[in-house]
Amino acid sequence: MSNVEVSASILSADFTRLADHMKEADAVGVERFHVDVMDGRFVPNITFGPLIAKAARRATKTFIEAHLMIVEPERYIPDFAKAGADNIQVHQEACPHLNSTIQLIHSLGKKATVVLNPATPLGTLEEVLGDIDQVLLMTVNPGFGGQKFIPSMLSKILRLRQMIDEQHLDCTIEVDGGIDPIVAGSVVKSGAQILVAGAAIFAAPEGVAEAVRKLRASAEAA
Ligand code: DX5
Ligand code: ZN
Repeated sequence: MSNVEVSASILSADFTRLADHMKEADAVGVERFHVDVMDGRFVPNITFGPLIAKAARRATKTFIEAHLMIVEPERYIPDFAKAGADNIQVHQEACPHLNSTIQLIHSLGKKATVVLNPATPLGTLEEVLGDIDQVLLMTVNPGFGGQKFIPSMLSKILRLRQMIDEQHLDCTIEVDGGIDPIVAGSVVKSGAQILVAGAAIFAAPEGVAEAVRKLRASAEAA
């Protein structure tokens, strides 16, 4: 596999030097930046909103995805679009009118991703899979960086890969949570194409550049 993409989650970056940290990741060629928005309601933790997404936008020209771990995400989607996110990611569990939320994202000219928590069945995607650009499978329970990958998610990735391939859909699979050089190979082998990593990149003792290289090498060896 050589076309695996790395999405660096700024959640684990040093916010006193966010632009520097992002530049280090850009210099080593990450394909995306991942911006984790948490509201203290959909998930227990609170992070940041469109202001930081906008700051991240100013720090890079690289593709940015906004992962909205918030209730009623449709209320804030236009703000994240305006802040410069290229891909807007909403949780299936937070969207009773998922079809119209996807339409809203597309109407703003952005890519639409639907995110599933670990316990949410793939069957909940059945009616929307043909309408979205990407599925993001959570491989930890959302809320915090630096958690441990849940091994049973490998079979979920594999089953989603089969669903997408059987229907010949143009929909990518991204994974988020606990992704490091140890698990990268097996998630790619199961069918993931984009790897979100926070702690494994920005909290790595060897530094950002070496950490991205290690992650990519392990993913590409799959
Ligand atoms: C977790 C977030 C993740 C987080 C991943 O709720 O959605 O994007 O930043 O961090 P790591 O890679 O440290 O598990
Ligand atoms: Zn995330």
